[in-house]
Amino acid sequence: MADSFQYINKRLYCENVDLIEFSKTVQTPYYIYSKKETLDNCQQVLNAGANLDFLPCYALKANYNPGLLKLVRNAGFGADVVSGGELYFALKAGFDPQKIVFSGVGKTIDEIEFAIKTGIHSLNIESAKELKLASAIAGKLRKKVHAAIRVNPDIEAQTHKYISTGLHTNKFGVSVDEAVKLYTEAQNDRWLAPQGIHVHIGSQITSVEPFLKTVKFLNQFKMRLEQSGIEISYIDLGGGIGINYYNDFQNQKNKPDFLTDILQAYLDGFKDSNLKVIVELGRSITGSSGLLISKVLYRKRTPQKNFIIVDAAMNNLIRPSLYNAYHEIVPLELNVGKYEICDIVGPVCESGDFLAKDRKFQSVNQNDLIAVTGAGAYGQALASNYNLRPKISEYLVDSNKVRNIYQGEKIENLAKQFKW
Ligand code: LLP
Repeated sequence: MADSFQYINKRLYCENVDLIEFSKTVQTPYYIYSKKETLDNCQQVLNAGANLDFLPCYALKANYNPGLLKLVRNAGFGADVVSGGELYFALKAGFDPQKIVFSGVGKTIDEIEFAIKTGIHSLNIESAKELKLASAIAGKLRKKVHAAIRVNPDIEAQTHKYISTGLHTNKFGVSVDEAVKLYTEAQNDRWLAPQGIHVHIGSQITSVEPFLKTVKFLNQFKMRLEQSGIEISYIDLGGGIGINYYNDFQNQKNKPDFLTDILQAYLDGFKDSNLKVIVELGRSITGSSGLLISKVLYRKRTPQKNFIIVDAAMNNLIRPSLYNAYHEIVPLELNVGKYEICDIVGPVCESGDFLAKDRKFQSVNQNDLIAVTGAGAYGQALASNYNLRPKISEYLVDSNKVRNIYQGEKIENLAKQFKW
């Protein structure tokens, strides 16, 4: 079977699909995902948890396209949702309610009610007020809630500060002391079954150290709960395993492999615990599966800068603008020799609209195609209509077949949503 992404005769392929040929048949920009890459990532997770009572969940926030959701569900995953919308999509994609966990600091009454009625595996509670509300709603529905309390371990995740979530200065979870109080309260509440611990320290973490600190923290915390007479049956470790954004499809060097190495070390921390172990992985499942394909519209050289203006922009992929994130960008057709230092930018009217800055890139011409790699997670999911740019199509490759899994928006349909 072909690699997920590779060059054959200097042309980039997604599995067995020649992306230059495929691009002739559709409109750019577009997202394209590899089924094989997605399933390979799922399999690595399943392998890492093979010796545990293990429930891997996929965090829908990374990419909620049903085409991908169904792949992940069929691989045996559950779902991690953070809104009524994500719960709706998870159910519609066929995830077993007993394999759904619901996190988030600001769940509404409607969302909690929806989750309880659905009978999900775990409502991950983040505050004293949410606990009270969940109990009241469960009482009204006369249905017990299986809950975890999200504890904030005050651990530095060594990632961008916008996506670090496990510090006491972050809005997430509750402190150890408060958590102990909440477990006690919940245990005495006839509508709450507080059987789990939840933690999530951040995203795009590429070092094992914060996770090892979390293991230590959780083992101590569990002992503290036991001393207070609280019995726990599952532990939800969150997600956050980083991916490699420096892809090298030419030499097939996609290392280091954070998913295997870091996840294994994290899970090993619980192999003797007798607890059911849940993870909530987003980026590490779909991140490496996706490319954003874009066409060069113009070349523009000034005395100071060399711009490649392409048809994808920050409204399609906001990660470079928002987090100064690096995504390897590669040409769909390799040529020999010439490279330039350039900024790869989109058409949106902001200087913050860029996909790459001061990047060494193969010399390209108008109408040449490029691929932004590592775009399968937090790409289309964070897309907007800024500058009235419709959302773009998404495609899923399975060997030599391509399926349209999201029909890009049409400006006429967008206009219909407004009251004219
Ligand atoms: N669980 C919880 C409670 C979370 O908040 C998140 C991500 C995850 C799981 C999944 O994390 P992952 O395995 O994907 O790292 N837009 C940002 C990422 C935001 C992550 C938010 N929470 C980005 O593009 O980097």
